[in-house]
Amino acid sequence: MFSEPLTIADLKRRAKWRVPKMFYDYADSGAWTEGTYRANEADFAKVKLRQRVLVDMTDRSLATTMIGEKVAMPVALAPTGLCGMQHADGEILAAQAAEEFGVPFTLSTMSVCSIEDVAENTTKPFWFQLYVMKDRDFVKSLIGRAKAAGCSALVLTLDLQILGQRHKDLVNGLSTPPKFTPKHVWQVGTRPFWALEMLQTKRRTFRNIVGHAPASSDLSSLASWTAEQFDPKLSWADVEWIREQWGGKLILKGVLDAEDARMAAKTGADAIIVSNHGGRQLDGARSSISVLPEIVEAVGGDIEIHMDGGIRSGQDVLKARALGAQGVFIGRPYLYGLGAMGKKGVTRTLDIIRKELDITMALCGKRNIEDIDRDIIAKVDF
Ligand code: FNR
Repeated sequence: MFSEPLTIADLKRRAKWRVPKMFYDYADSGAWTEGTYRANEADFAKVKLRQRVLVDMTDRSLATTMIGEKVAMPVALAPTGLCGMQHADGEILAAQAAEEFGVPFTLSTMSVCSIEDVAENTTKPFWFQLYVMKDRDFVKSLIGRAKAAGCSALVLTLDLQILGQRHKDLVNGLSTPPKFTPKHVWQVGTRPFWALEMLQTKRRTFRNIVGHAPASSDLSSLASWTAEQFDPKLSWADVEWIREQWGGKLILKGVLDAEDARMAAKTGADAIIVSNHGGRQLDGARSSISVLPEIVEAVGGDIEIHMDGGIRSGQDVLKARALGAQGVFIGRPYLYGLGAMGKKGVTRTLDIIRKELDITMALCGKRNIEDIDRDIIAKVDF
């Protein structure tokens, strides 16, 4: 029915066919008009590359580092909530695929599989993403569990003090409290492969939270507890407190403004991620790639800079690197791979990106990702 997936768009089409609508839509949605979501992708086309010829293109390498860790290419898997609803045991499968490929995997606080589930099913350290909840004892316990699991970095998300509104989720009843109607039974019933796999796992709720926080295992009260736990008072002082509690490598995610980047650089964190949460929070905000050059200019010498949002090919990775990002994070591309084909699909996502990145780098006349800089950019039209 489907030919071999050659692009991320191919994986997206397959995921739509395999994953129940409410969960497919959850991944493929942005806040309100989805303008920022679209801009994240579209603005990469405004960066034009310089084609070079007759340069030795043998022995190429995409290997580099992200926060000092060796990576096979400068791409990490971003934290995504409910990843385990794109495919049963999704977080474990994605973490395994990333580990085998040699890139970092970041587990979300709002994951289905828990920190312990992922740790038990992988061998290398992964990264843990923290949402700061009002219940600071719960935050402390999450940090302690991430340490105990051997996580090698904490990714602290700054741009979700309150939750952006996504219309598709509201229409689909993926809200607080969640609604289950005949429509949902139909959506699941028409996705039998997904449903069968889901029946075979016990991991079907927010396992970082259930049994660890004063939230009940009944989905409705769990969702209400979690939704009211995001802390609207989160401040730079809290970042300092978290840095002390954690004591390891810290990445601040969700910086989209040069002034905020300067503040972030002063915290002593190891890196920032230029991000608008994949267009899921402030609709009307600028695309991540268009903001990146300003942030590099503001704090490039002071802190390592990563970016995410709209990466849909290896070409996009190269453009981000050329504009000053040490590495990028991908969210939806691997969720589509996971929804389409499970672990194999995540590996396929990474393979597609690696191939595109490698060929583009060569055609730009470069052999090493470490040598990529603005020199490969012909024009930027933001
Ligand atoms: C996210 N993102 C996210 N970020 C975070 O810090 N914690 C989270 O739990 C989630 N959850 C989440 C769910 C889904 C379905 C998506 C698509 C995204 C944001 C994510 O980490 C990243 O910033 C974006 O996904 C990057 O944009 P692309 O690659 O999806 O375009």
